[in-house]
Amino acid sequence: MAEREKWDSKLGFILACVGAAIGLGNIWMFPWRLGAYGGAAFLVPYLLFVFTLGWTGLMEEFAFGRDQQTGAISAYENVFNKKGLKYGAKLGIIPVLGVTGVFTFYSIVVGWILKYFSLSITNSFARIDNIPAYFGNFAGNYQSIFWHGLAILLTLLIVRLGVKDGIEKMNKIMMPGLFILLIILLFRSLTLPGAEEGLAFLLVPDWSKLREPITWVMALGQSFFTVSLGGAAMLVYGSYLDKDSDIPTSAFQTVLFNTFSSLLAAFVIIPAVFAFGLDPQAGPPLLFITIPQVFRQMPAGTIFSTLFFLSIVFAGLSSAINLMEVPVEALIDRLNISRKKSSLIVGLGAFLVGIPLDLNMELFGAFADTVTIYLVPLGAVLSAVIFFWIYGIKNARNAINEGAKRPLAKIWEPYAKYIFSSVAILVLVLGVMFGGIG
Ligand code: PHE
Repeated sequence: MAEREKWDSKLGFILACVGAAIGLGNIWMFPWRLGAYGGAAFLVPYLLFVFTLGWTGLMEEFAFGRDQQTGAISAYENVFNKKGLKYGAKLGIIPVLGVTGVFTFYSIVVGWILKYFSLSITNSFARIDNIPAYFGNFAGNYQSIFWHGLAILLTLLIVRLGVKDGIEKMNKIMMPGLFILLIILLFRSLTLPGAEEGLAFLLVPDWSKLREPITWVMALGQSFFTVSLGGAAMLVYGSYLDKDSDIPTSAFQTVLFNTFSSLLAAFVIIPAVFAFGLDPQAGPPLLFITIPQVFRQMPAGTIFSTLFFLSIVFAGLSSAINLMEVPVEALIDRLNISRKKSSLIVGLGAFLVGIPLDLNMELFGAFADTVTIYLVPLGAVLSAVIFFWIYGIKNARNAINEGAKRPLAKIWEPYAKYIFSSVAILVLVLGVMFGGIG
């Protein structure tokens, strides 16, 4: 058995986790939710949840992976075997399928982003009369297959180089790049005439929204999804950690940088959208219809559009490599297939399964909903219950505390075991009730 791959540095691990966490959730969901659910008032439930529950879930996944030194399938199985439990040992397949499902539709969106990046550098938005119609013709059409394939190819080329030489190295470039680009764009956006209206949308707190349950529900869903809690993705990154790394601190820093990027994205996007009198909706229309209209009207729009889509390429690609690593690790670990072959198999598989989704946007939506409403939250529940209840809350706390400068106190045990696990179940139930909250 070959020795397990390891991160090269603590900073490299954190940047890889930040890269995994920052993605579409931060860019096309958070800014809209912040405005729609009470502006600054939304920050109250969101920050509360992400710094308590999000942080706990991250510590759980990192520690579960590090303790077992393997991905979700074998990690869950080890715990079941150790406890002599007959049924359930294969449950780790669920989160791995969930994350592979996210990879399948996510890589399609990364393809659209690559296309828009290329439209930006070639100054092509100026030549497109009707951007909504353009996007409508492109997404759901055979043309997007090429960009989807390119997104998978880029991800594959990074993942096949391995943890240290591929994933870690690329994140060390892409994450500082992402923050620098967002800060440049922030200055541009905030100095646009008319940006104040967008700032008011984001900042003026509408406290009455805190009386509406939906605000709390959306903040809760956001706090799980944004740090990638699904029982496998952060777990696999944790499995490449050494015993001397500090899990509470790393998880906290991941939450911190992830939150910072969400706020930056909001303050880049919303003021610019308001300055040109457009509507800041959530989801694909924001990035692929609204934003290009903003850049088209902005002085030096080509440059800013290029910088913007490059930053989104960084955000999307760094998440895609984390997502792809999950099934790749499973093939290496379970079937003893080499990393190079495993990445080829996963890349080709996700590409072929994704082609029907490329061609039919309704199918794409149904697929993405099924994965994010059922599989991902179910994976988060499974990993929490298996680690905190079956592996045991004492063992779990010990696993987290190993190498920690400020270890978690005993009082953390009942909180994680009862409160966190129940809330994870609640996230699943609410997601099903509301048709998606993450
Ligand atoms: N955190 C990622 C984002 O915000 C999405 C994600 C969720 C990735 C769950 C993996 C697992 O885009």
